[in-house]
Amino acid sequence: MSEENYAPIATDLEKDKNYNWCTCKHSSNQPFCDGSHKAHNATPPMRFSSDEDKKAYLCTCKLTKNRPYCDGSHKN
Ligand code: FES
Repeated sequence: MSEENYAPIATDLEKDKNYNWCTCKHSSNQPFCDGSHKAHNATPPMRFSSDEDKKAYLCTCKLTKNRPYCDGSHKN
């Protein structure tokens, strides 16, 4: 993965829908979990939902302090 691939992914979130945000970087379906953590014995996904329909920038570098949202940490 090159540096630029760690940019956040703009995602349309639906109100009250459950999402599994990948925490381990191994998923091929970023920013969401595809089950790859199991084969890599890595950290499980973080389940979250939004209280409104909105566009959100979801972190792919996994360094954010505001999971699952990008906080700009990928630039550091
Ligand atoms: S992609 Fe921006 S903080 Fe991770």
